[in-house]
Amino acid sequence: MTEALFVSCTPGLEAPLSQELAGMGLEARVVTGGCEVNAAPAGSVVRVNVQSRLASRVSWRLGQLDSPAAIVRLPVRQLLGPGPFQLGISEEPGARSAVPAEVWRNAAVKAWGALGEGPELSFRLSRAGCTVSVDTSGELLHLRGARQETGKAPLRETLASGVLRLCGWKPGEPLWDVMCGSGTFVIEAAEQAMGLQPGRARPFAFQSFASFDAKAFAEALAPAAPVSTWVRGSDLNAGALGVARRNAKRAGIFETIELERLDATTLVRPSGAPGLVIANLPYGKRVGQRFELHGLYQGVGAALRRSLSGWRFGFLLAEGEDALGLAIEAKTPVKNGGIWCQVVTGRVP
Ligand SMILES: C[S@@+](CC[C@H](N)C(=O)[O-])C[C@H]1O[C@@H](n2cnc3c(N)ncnc32)[C@H](O)[C@@H]1O
Repeated sequence: MTEALFVSCTPGLEAPLSQELAGMGLEARVVTGGCEVNAAPAGSVVRVNVQSRLASRVSWRLGQLDSPAAIVRLPVRQLLGPGPFQLGISEEPGARSAVPAEVWRNAAVKAWGALGEGPELSFRLSRAGCTVSVDTSGELLHLRGARQETGKAPLRETLASGVLRLCGWKPGEPLWDVMCGSGTFVIEAAEQAMGLQPGRARPFAFQSFASFDAKAFAEALAPAAPVSTWVRGSDLNAGALGVARRNAKRAGIFETIELERLDATTLVRPSGAPGLVIANLPYGKRVGQRFELHGLYQGVGAALRRSLSGWRFGFLLAEGEDALGLAIEAKTPVKNGGIWCQVVTGRVP
Protein backbone atom coordinates (compact mmCIF):
# COMPACT_ATOMS: atom_id res chain seq x y z
CA MET A 1 0.00 0.00 0.00
CA THR A 2 1.31 3.47 -0.81
CA GLU A 3 1.30 6.30 1.73
CA ALA A 4 0.30 9.96 1.31
CA LEU A 5 2.18 12.31 3.60
CA PHE A 6 2.15 15.93 4.60
CA VAL A 7 5.58 16.80 6.00
CA SER A 8 5.57 20.14 7.79
CA CYS A 9 8.60 22.35 8.40
CA THR A 10 9.70 25.76 9.64
CA PRO A 11 8.45 28.44 7.21
CA GLY A 12 11.22 29.11 4.70
CA LEU A 13 12.54 25.52 4.74
CA GLU A 14 9.96 24.11 2.28
CA ALA A 15 12.33 23.98 -0.72
CA PRO A 16 15.30 22.49 1.18
CA LEU A 17 12.90 19.94 2.73
CA SER A 18 11.73 18.91 -0.75
CA GLN A 19 15.40 18.37 -1.69
CA GLU A 20 15.98 16.29 1.41
CA LEU A 21 12.91 14.17 0.60
CA ALA A 22 14.11 13.80 -2.99
CA GLY A 23 17.35 12.42 -1.53
CA MET A 24 15.20 9.73 0.14
CA GLY A 25 13.67 8.92 -3.24
CA LEU A 26 10.38 10.76 -2.52
CA GLU A 27 8.82 13.15 -4.99
CA ALA A 28 7.53 16.08 -2.95
CA ARG A 29 5.32 19.02 -3.89
CA VAL A 30 6.23 22.23 -2.07
CA VAL A 31 3.29 23.96 -0.35
CA THR A 32 3.22 26.67 2.31
CA GLY A 33 4.55 25.22 5.55
CA GLY A 34 5.81 21.93 4.15
CA CYS A 35 5.72 19.32 1.43
CA GLU A 36 3.09 16.93 0.17
CA VAL A 37 4.19 13.47 -0.88
CA ASN A 38 1.56 11.42 -2.69
CA ALA A 39 1.87 7.71 -3.33
CA ALA A 40 5.07 7.22 -1.30
CA PRO A 41 6.19 3.59 -0.98
CA ALA A 42 5.13 1.69 2.15
CA GLY A 43 7.41 2.47 5.10
CA SER A 44 7.95 6.12 4.07
CA VAL A 45 6.16 7.43 7.18
CA VAL A 46 8.72 5.64 9.34
CA ARG A 47 11.72 6.59 7.21
CA VAL A 48 10.86 10.31 7.02
CA ASN A 49 10.21 10.52 10.77
CA VAL A 50 13.49 8.79 11.65
CA GLN A 51 15.78 10.22 8.95
CA SER A 52 14.57 13.71 8.03
CA ARG A 53 16.62 16.46 9.66
CA LEU A 54 14.37 19.27 8.43
CA ALA A 55 10.84 17.97 9.01
CA SER A 56 8.90 19.26 12.02
CA ARG A 57 6.12 16.66 11.82
CA VAL A 58 4.87 13.92 9.51
CA SER A 59 1.11 13.59 9.01
CA TRP A 60 -0.22 10.53 7.23
CA ARG A 61 -3.16 11.41 5.00
CA LEU A 62 -5.60 8.57 5.33
CA GLY A 63 -8.13 9.82 2.82
CA GLN A 64 -10.23 12.56 1.33
CA LEU A 65 -13.95 12.33 2.09
CA ASP A 66 -16.80 14.11 0.35
CA SER A 67 -19.37 13.38 3.08
CA PRO A 68 -19.48 12.12 6.69
CA ALA A 69 -21.15 8.91 5.46
CA ALA A 70 -17.87 8.02 3.68
CA ILE A 71 -15.97 7.84 7.01
CA VAL A 72 -16.60 4.10 7.36
CA ARG A 73 -14.48 3.48 4.25
CA LEU A 74 -11.27 4.70 5.92
CA PRO A 75 -9.06 1.89 7.29
CA VAL A 76 -8.58 3.73 10.59
CA ARG A 77 -9.01 0.75 12.91
CA GLN A 78 -6.82 -1.44 10.71
CA LEU A 79 -4.00 1.13 10.84
CA LEU A 80 -4.31 2.43 14.38
CA GLY A 81 -5.77 -0.45 16.38
CA PRO A 82 -8.75 -0.62 18.72
CA GLY A 83 -8.05 2.08 21.36
CA PRO A 84 -9.46 5.60 21.77
CA PHE A 85 -8.20 8.48 19.63
CA GLN A 86 -8.00 12.25 19.75
CA LEU A 87 -9.76 14.32 17.14
CA GLY A 88 -8.86 17.83 15.96
CA ILE A 89 -11.11 19.57 13.45
CA SER A 90 -10.02 22.67 11.55
CA GLU A 91 -11.17 24.55 8.47
CA GLU A 92 -8.99 25.42 5.51
CA PRO A 93 -8.40 29.20 5.60
CA GLY A 94 -11.17 30.96 3.69
CA ALA A 95 -13.14 27.75 3.10
CA ARG A 96 -16.61 27.39 4.58
CA SER A 97 -17.40 23.74 4.95
CA ALA A 98 -20.87 22.70 3.75
CA VAL A 99 -21.10 20.21 6.64
CA PRO A 100 -20.65 21.57 10.19
CA ALA A 101 -17.67 20.32 12.24
CA GLU A 102 -20.03 18.76 14.80
CA VAL A 103 -21.56 16.47 12.16
CA TRP A 104 -18.08 15.24 11.14
CA ARG A 105 -17.17 14.67 14.79
CA ASN A 106 -20.32 12.65 15.50
CA ALA A 107 -19.79 10.54 12.38
CA ALA A 108 -16.17 9.80 13.41
CA VAL A 109 -17.18 8.79 16.94
CA LYS A 110 -20.01 6.62 15.59
CA ALA A 111 -17.66 4.87 13.14
CA TRP A 112 -14.57 4.41 15.30
CA GLY A 113 -15.66 4.66 18.94
CA ALA A 114 -14.69 6.81 21.87
CA LEU A 115 -12.41 9.82 22.02
CA GLY A 116 -9.60 9.83 24.59
CA GLU A 117 -5.81 9.56 24.91
CA GLY A 118 -4.43 7.94 21.76
CA PRO A 119 -3.46 8.65 18.16
CA GLU A 120 -4.27 12.19 17.00
CA LEU A 121 -6.58 12.25 14.02
CA SER A 122 -7.18 15.54 12.32
CA PHE A 123 -10.03 16.53 10.03
CA ARG A 124 -9.30 19.41 7.69
CA LEU A 125 -12.60 20.73 6.34
CA SER A 126 -12.90 22.39 2.95
CA ARG A 127 -15.81 23.20 0.64
CA ALA A 128 -15.28 19.84 -1.08
CA GLY A 129 -15.36 17.76 2.09
CA CYS A 130 -12.64 16.71 4.49
CA THR A 131 -9.06 15.41 4.51
CA VAL A 132 -8.38 12.96 7.33
CA SER A 133 -4.81 12.61 8.63
CA VAL A 134 -3.12 11.07 11.61
CA ASP A 135 -0.06 12.50 13.35
CA THR A 136 2.75 9.95 13.13
CA SER A 137 5.48 11.93 14.93
CA GLY A 138 4.19 12.71 18.42
CA GLU A 139 6.42 15.44 19.82
CA LEU A 140 7.85 17.81 17.23
CA LEU A 141 10.80 16.28 15.41
CA HIS A 142 13.38 18.89 16.46
CA LEU A 143 13.20 17.17 19.86
CA ARG A 144 15.82 14.56 19.03
CA GLY A 145 16.44 13.55 22.63
CA ALA A 146 20.06 14.70 23.02
CA ARG A 147 19.72 18.42 23.65
CA GLN A 148 18.35 18.62 27.16
CA GLU A 149 19.92 22.00 27.91
CA THR A 150 19.79 25.14 25.82
CA GLY A 151 21.41 28.56 25.92
CA LYS A 152 19.59 31.89 25.92
CA ALA A 153 18.56 31.88 22.25
CA PRO A 154 18.53 28.23 21.21
CA LEU A 155 18.04 27.21 17.64
CA ARG A 156 15.78 24.33 16.74
CA GLU A 157 17.74 21.35 15.43
CA THR A 158 15.51 21.22 12.34
CA LEU A 159 16.24 24.85 11.51
CA ALA A 160 19.98 24.33 12.12
CA SER A 161 20.00 21.46 9.63
CA GLY A 162 17.93 23.57 7.22
CA VAL A 163 20.49 26.37 7.43
CA LEU A 164 23.32 23.87 6.81
CA ARG A 165 21.47 22.68 3.70
CA LEU A 166 20.78 26.26 2.52
CA CYS A 167 24.52 26.86 2.85
CA GLY A 168 25.13 23.83 0.63
CA TRP A 169 27.13 22.10 3.39
CA LYS A 170 27.73 18.37 3.18
CA PRO A 171 29.77 16.01 5.38
CA GLY A 172 33.43 16.19 4.39
CA GLU A 173 33.57 20.00 4.22
CA PRO A 174 35.21 21.56 7.33
CA LEU A 175 32.68 23.44 9.47
CA TRP A 176 33.23 26.08 12.14
CA ASP A 177 30.41 27.68 14.13
CA VAL A 178 32.05 30.78 15.62
CA MET A 179 29.09 31.50 17.97
CA CYS A 180 28.03 27.96 18.79
CA GLY A 181 26.00 28.60 21.97
CA SER A 182 24.49 25.26 23.02
CA GLY A 183 26.08 23.61 19.97
CA THR A 184 23.11 23.01 17.67
CA PHE A 185 24.94 23.49 14.34
CA VAL A 186 27.98 21.48 15.36
CA ILE A 187 25.93 18.60 16.78
CA GLU A 188 23.69 18.40 13.69
CA ALA A 189 26.73 18.52 11.41
CA ALA A 190 28.74 15.96 13.41
CA GLU A 191 25.78 13.57 13.51
CA GLN A 192 25.48 13.81 9.73
CA ALA A 193 29.21 13.21 9.34
CA MET A 194 28.95 10.11 11.54
CA GLY A 195 25.92 8.87 9.61
CA LEU A 196 23.72 8.91 12.74
CA GLN A 197 19.96 9.13 12.20
CA PRO A 198 18.33 12.16 13.86
CA GLY A 199 15.48 10.03 15.27
CA ARG A 200 17.66 7.40 16.92
CA ALA A 201 17.01 8.47 20.53
CA ARG A 202 13.35 9.41 20.71
CA PRO A 203 9.93 7.79 20.57
CA PHE A 204 7.40 8.34 17.76
CA ALA A 205 3.59 8.25 17.68
CA PHE A 206 3.65 5.61 14.93
CA GLN A 207 5.18 3.07 17.35
CA SER A 208 1.77 2.73 19.05
CA PHE A 209 -0.13 2.06 15.81
CA ALA A 210 -1.46 -1.45 15.08
CA SER A 211 0.26 -1.19 11.68
CA PHE A 212 3.71 -0.47 13.26
CA ASP A 213 6.39 -2.29 11.30
CA ALA A 214 9.28 -2.96 13.71
CA LYS A 215 11.51 -4.24 10.91
CA ALA A 216 11.05 -1.08 8.81
CA PHE A 217 11.81 0.98 11.96
CA ALA A 218 15.02 -0.94 12.68
CA GLU A 219 16.10 -0.55 9.03
CA ALA A 220 15.42 3.22 9.09
CA LEU A 221 17.52 3.58 12.26
CA ALA A 222 20.60 1.89 10.75
CA PRO A 223 23.47 4.41 10.51
CA ALA A 224 24.76 5.62 7.14
CA ALA A 225 28.46 5.44 6.23
CA PRO A 226 30.55 7.99 8.19
CA VAL A 227 32.51 10.71 6.39
CA SER A 228 35.59 12.14 8.10
CA THR A 229 34.83 15.83 8.79
CA TRP A 230 36.50 18.58 10.85
CA VAL A 231 33.82 20.28 12.99
CA ARG A 232 34.56 23.02 15.49
CA GLY A 233 32.30 25.16 17.69
CA SER A 234 33.52 28.23 19.54
CA ASP A 235 31.84 30.84 21.71
CA LEU A 236 32.87 33.64 24.04
CA ASN A 237 30.61 32.41 26.80
CA ALA A 238 32.11 29.62 28.92
CA GLY A 239 28.69 28.63 30.28
CA ALA A 240 27.31 28.15 26.77
CA LEU A 241 30.32 25.97 25.91
CA GLY A 242 29.62 23.78 28.95
CA VAL A 243 26.06 23.28 27.69
CA ALA A 244 27.37 22.48 24.19
CA ARG A 245 29.82 19.96 25.65
CA ARG A 246 27.13 18.13 27.63
CA ASN A 247 24.71 18.14 24.67
CA ALA A 248 27.46 16.78 22.40
CA LYS A 249 28.20 14.00 24.91
CA ARG A 250 24.52 13.05 25.11
CA ALA A 251 24.39 12.98 21.30
CA GLY A 252 27.41 10.65 21.24
CA ILE A 253 29.47 12.89 18.97
CA PHE A 254 31.64 14.72 21.54
CA GLU A 255 34.83 12.88 20.55
CA THR A 256 34.46 13.97 16.92
CA ILE A 257 34.27 17.76 17.44
CA GLU A 258 36.38 20.59 18.86
CA LEU A 259 34.87 23.10 21.30
CA GLU A 260 36.86 26.19 22.25
CA ARG A 261 36.37 29.49 24.04
CA LEU A 262 37.14 32.13 21.41
CA ASP A 263 36.05 35.63 20.46
CA ALA A 264 34.47 35.65 16.98
CA THR A 265 36.04 39.05 16.31
CA THR A 266 39.61 37.72 16.74
CA LEU A 267 39.81 34.44 14.86
CA VAL A 268 42.98 32.60 13.89
CA ARG A 269 43.03 30.60 10.64
CA PRO A 270 42.96 26.85 11.34
CA SER A 271 45.32 24.59 9.43
CA GLY A 272 43.72 22.51 6.70
CA ALA A 273 41.45 23.20 3.78
CA PRO A 274 38.92 26.03 3.86
CA GLY A 275 35.34 25.13 4.70
CA LEU A 276 32.12 26.76 5.88
CA VAL A 277 32.10 29.30 8.72
CA ILE A 278 28.61 29.50 10.16
CA ALA A 279 26.83 31.30 13.00
CA ASN A 280 23.47 32.22 14.37
CA LEU A 281 24.40 35.82 15.18
CA PRO A 282 22.81 37.50 18.20
CA TYR A 283 19.80 39.52 17.05
CA GLY A 284 19.77 43.23 17.72
CA LYS A 285 17.26 46.02 17.54
CA ARG A 286 17.30 49.19 15.54
CA VAL A 287 18.19 52.12 17.79
CA GLY A 288 17.33 55.24 15.81
CA GLN A 289 19.14 54.89 12.49
CA ARG A 290 21.71 52.52 13.90
CA PHE A 291 21.67 48.78 14.38
CA GLU A 292 22.50 47.96 18.00
CA LEU A 293 24.93 45.16 17.16
CA HIS A 294 26.65 47.03 14.31
CA GLY A 295 30.06 46.91 16.03
CA LEU A 296 29.89 43.15 16.72
CA TYR A 297 28.83 42.35 13.14
CA GLN A 298 31.60 44.62 11.80
CA GLY A 299 34.12 42.85 14.03
CA VAL A 300 33.01 39.39 12.85
CA GLY A 301 33.17 40.44 9.18
CA ALA A 302 36.64 41.94 9.69
CA ALA A 303 37.87 38.76 11.46
CA LEU A 304 36.66 36.65 8.55
CA ARG A 305 38.38 38.88 5.97
CA ARG A 306 41.60 38.82 8.00
CA SER A 307 41.77 35.12 8.83
CA LEU A 308 39.35 33.03 6.79
CA SER A 309 39.86 34.19 3.23
CA GLY A 310 38.60 31.57 0.76
CA TRP A 311 36.15 30.10 3.33
CA ARG A 312 32.45 30.11 2.57
CA PHE A 313 30.20 31.82 5.11
CA GLY A 314 26.57 31.30 6.15
CA PHE A 315 24.89 33.43 8.82
CA LEU A 316 21.43 33.29 10.30
CA LEU A 317 20.44 36.80 11.36
CA ALA A 318 17.41 39.07 11.56
CA GLU A 319 18.96 42.24 10.13
CA GLY A 320 22.15 44.28 10.01
CA GLU A 321 23.98 42.07 7.47
CA ASP A 322 25.50 45.12 5.73
CA ALA A 323 27.66 45.68 8.81
CA LEU A 324 29.50 42.42 8.06
CA GLY A 325 31.14 44.12 5.05
CA LEU A 326 31.02 40.87 3.06
CA ALA A 327 29.59 40.38 -0.44
CA ILE A 328 26.38 38.42 0.09
CA GLU A 329 25.58 36.06 -2.78
CA ALA A 330 22.23 34.70 -1.57
CA LYS A 331 19.62 35.56 1.06
CA THR A 332 16.85 33.16 2.07
CA PRO A 333 14.09 34.14 4.51
CA VAL A 334 13.37 31.62 7.28
CA LYS A 335 11.35 31.89 10.47
CA ASN A 336 13.18 31.42 13.76
CA GLY A 337 11.16 31.44 16.96
CA GLY A 338 8.32 33.33 15.27
CA ILE A 339 10.61 36.03 13.80
CA TRP A 340 11.34 36.25 10.08
CA CYS A 341 15.11 36.07 9.73
CA GLN A 342 17.38 35.34 6.82
CA VAL A 343 20.22 33.05 5.92
CA VAL A 344 22.92 35.01 4.11
CA THR A 345 25.65 33.16 2.28
CA GLY A 346 28.75 33.99 0.29
CA ARG A 347 32.51 33.56 0.16
CA VAL A 348 35.10 35.46 2.16
CA PRO A 349 37.34 37.34 -0.31
C1 LIG B 1 22.02 33.43 19.11
S1 LIG B 1 23.18 32.70 20.14
C2 LIG B 1 23.65 31.25 19.29
C3 LIG B 1 22.77 30.11 19.68
C4 LIG B 1 23.25 28.79 19.12
N1 LIG B 1 23.09 28.72 17.68
C5 LIG B 1 22.54 27.63 19.79
O1 LIG B 1 22.01 26.78 19.11
O2 LIG B 1 22.47 27.59 21.03
C6 LIG B 1 24.57 33.72 19.92
C7 LIG B 1 25.82 33.29 20.63
O3 LIG B 1 26.85 34.22 20.31
C8 LIG B 1 27.75 34.26 21.40
N2 LIG B 1 28.57 35.47 21.25
C9 LIG B 1 28.23 36.76 21.37
N3 LIG B 1 29.28 37.57 21.13
C10 LIG B 1 30.31 36.74 20.80
C11 LIG B 1 31.68 36.96 20.40
N4 LIG B 1 32.20 38.18 20.28
N5 LIG B 1 32.43 35.88 20.12
C12 LIG B 1 31.94 34.61 20.23
N6 LIG B 1 30.67 34.36 20.62
C13 LIG B 1 29.87 35.40 20.89
C14 LIG B 1 26.83 34.23 22.60
O4 LIG B 1 27.54 33.78 23.74
C15 LIG B 1 25.74 33.25 22.14
O5 LIG B 1 26.04 31.94 22.58
